[in-house]
Amino acid sequence: MPMTMAERRNGLPQEVRKTLEANPGFADLSHLACIECETTYPSSEVIYKCTSTTFEKQNGNDSRGICGDILDVRYEFRETDPEFLKELWLARRMSNAPQDRSGVWRFRETIPFIDDPNSVVTLFEGNTPLFDAPVSAKYIGLPRLRLKHQGFNPTGSFKDPGMTAAVSIANSLSMEAVACASTGNTSASMAAYAKRAGFLPIVFIPEGQIAIGKLSQALDYGALTMQIKGDFDEAMGMVMRIAPKLGIYVVNSINPYRIEGQKTMVYELMEQLSWEVPDRIVVPGGNLGHASSIGKALHEMVELGFIDKMPRITVIQAEGADPLYETITSDDPNQLITVHAKTLATAVKIGNPISWKKAKNYVNETDGWVEKVSEQEIADAKAIVGREGIGCEPASALTVAGIKKLVEFGTDSPIDKDEDVVVILTGNVLKDPDYTVNYHMDRLYEDYVTSLNVLEKAGKIGSTFANAPIQVEADEAAIARIIEERLANARK
Ligand SMILES: Cc1ncc(COP(=O)(O)O)c(C=O)c1O
Ligand SMILES: [Zn+2]
Repeated sequence: MPMTMAERRNGLPQEVRKTLEANPGFADLSHLACIECETTYPSSEVIYKCTSTTFEKQNGNDSRGICGDILDVRYEFRETDPEFLKELWLARRMSNAPQDRSGVWRFRETIPFIDDPNSVVTLFEGNTPLFDAPVSAKYIGLPRLRLKHQGFNPTGSFKDPGMTAAVSIANSLSMEAVACASTGNTSASMAAYAKRAGFLPIVFIPEGQIAIGKLSQALDYGALTMQIKGDFDEAMGMVMRIAPKLGIYVVNSINPYRIEGQKTMVYELMEQLSWEVPDRIVVPGGNLGHASSIGKALHEMVELGFIDKMPRITVIQAEGADPLYETITSDDPNQLITVHAKTLATAVKIGNPISWKKAKNYVNETDGWVEKVSEQEIADAKAIVGREGIGCEPASALTVAGIKKLVEFGTDSPIDKDEDVVVILTGNVLKDPDYTVNYHMDRLYEDYVTSLNVLEKAGKIGSTFANAPIQVEADEAAIARIIEERLANARK
């Protein structure tokens, strides 16, 4: 007979048992609020953008409009004693209850928007490792670097902690279908969680612009997958027009519950750092939901007394997909500058990011930075993270490339040489195998265009750290020579 939950709990040390029993932790203490005009909405309303009416003076006349800005989840937190919560979260690591094994729901007091634990849809997300990264640190020119690898999530990307939150809300609202536009990882994650919950996942992807690993996941998990002839920004527009008409729930990061789930990664990180706050947290920027979730987590952690200073949020974008960089360095950073996005890091190939204002506000609040990097810098940084024995997808490697670039600014650098930097790697190395193999075989190009039915390549990316396979006859002596030569080189 398998043990019951109560029996398992009874097997725990008494102190741990007492702590767990003191707090089941589920509650709905939330409402939604517009990030611009602060209009509030009940958490039960399916709404993505503020619908309140605004009045502006134009040429001396009153002009009416709709606010239209995005929403945040706000709380009246009930349990706020940091020392008690830290102890409770540690105690939950010894529990076998599904919500305690999840690296998101273990921290449920920080996201109290679900009061029925049965609504939770979990794949045991979170619980991702924090690695010391000496090879990357040396490459960058810092004494130490740590990598928090969100690619170790169940579908291989940082999207999973947000998706458990959004799909759990969809479950509590009794939705029958969920939809997203995606550069790949969101669709993989959504498809998995939706299927676990028994919903239909509907995916809109830009045709030919997502990595093969991600497409294969959406197909395998059974998503209705629509390849739109257009880019991500067009696919996103399509979802926002169609989903409300058909009563389908949108789980892109415009859905504020995605941001809530992603927030818990920062609690997990701080726990791994024994609550010693790093100087800087570095993330890649696409739709900018990730940077926003980190900012919101840090803001709330200071408010609740978990930490007393904020790490500087540093967002790195690809040169060809850099709307936040363009905006923040422009004369009017309150007006988004959109771009026609172009990068081989397809996960961040986004020119009109939905969460730009949230991310910009948190970069400013934490005295952070926004930088951009070239395709060559991304490719080389990715190979370095690979040599670390860790690996990541191209969009994640932006971070390492970006920090290297900032350190190389020398005395003008916004980074001190002895800073404690944590980089968030967002996606698993297996997500985009074509990119990796092409780099190592010295055939990675920025552009692949079909002209007169002939595939033409342009913008060759140098394979600085190539590790191509060696073709060799099945000849033992020849193979032994190659291995001995490599070993001798390694000993030098
Ligand atoms: C691997 C990876 N890194 C970074 C990003 C960018 O995250 P965000 O869109 O939240 O800025 C994405 C988004 O799809 C991604 O898949
Ligand atoms: Zn508003």
